[in-house]
Amino acid sequence: WGKTGHRVTGQIAQEYLTGKAKRALNDLLDGHSLAFVSTFADDIKADRAYSKYSAWHYVNYPLGTSYKDSKKSKHGDIVTAIEECISKVKDKKNTREDRVFHLKMLVHLIGDLHQPMHASRGEDKGGNDIQVQWFGEGSNLHKVWDKNLIESYGMTYTELASELDGVNRKERKKIQEGTIYDWVDESHEICAVLYESVEVGDKLGYRYSYEYNDLLFQQLQKGGLRLAKVLNDVFG
Ligand code: ADE
Ligand code: ZN
Ligand code: ZN
Repeated sequence: WGKTGHRVTGQIAQEYLTGKAKRALNDLLDGHSLAFVSTFADDIKADRAYSKYSAWHYVNYPLGTSYKDSKKSKHGDIVTAIEECISKVKDKKNTREDRVFHLKMLVHLIGDLHQPMHASRGEDKGGNDIQVQWFGEGSNLHKVWDKNLIESYGMTYTELASELDGVNRKERKKIQEGTIYDWVDESHEICAVLYESVEVGDKLGYRYSYEYNDLLFQQLQKGGLRLAKVLNDVFG
């Protein structure tokens, strides 16, 4: 996601933290919100010192297959990165600096895990090579899902997060079930559907936006609720 998608994810998660998780986060993040730190992993991309983390934002494997059966990248991927972040944050023997760094990465990566084009296929770099038009301007399928759709609402992340506020306890618990492996395969299956509905050169705009509004909101909401679950478990 772009900044707004990550901030929405963080803002939603913030509402479902346990007292214990809230206290631990408040300490490690110096009082900053999850929304505030959610964009850190993109902010460091411009610094060459952090280039080894660029493969952490996504995973590509053949459509119709599952992550666990896929050939793993030697550079790591979003799933192995999330696992590493969880273990780094949990272990109090690590330095505070190391725990904070991996916590900020974790907040971001749980968001990206729910952007369908971040659990994608390698042939076109998760849709980056599928050029399309967005309201007459050049874009690509990846960017449509990272930011074009979200920005078309012209709403702030807090407005979007409150727009999404509407699951009862039972639905929430259901969404929070499963593992990182289940969640990445779920995004991967959605990604396959998105590839089917778009061709190179397509002119996308309000029609596409209305068609995928519910799916977009669902993915942002799942990202937020599951981020809360992961953090509650880490600090539980
Ligand atoms: N680069 C290659 N594949 C990618 C993907 N699925 N998402 C983002 N960047 C990528
Ligand atoms: Zn990212
Ligand atoms: Zn992206």
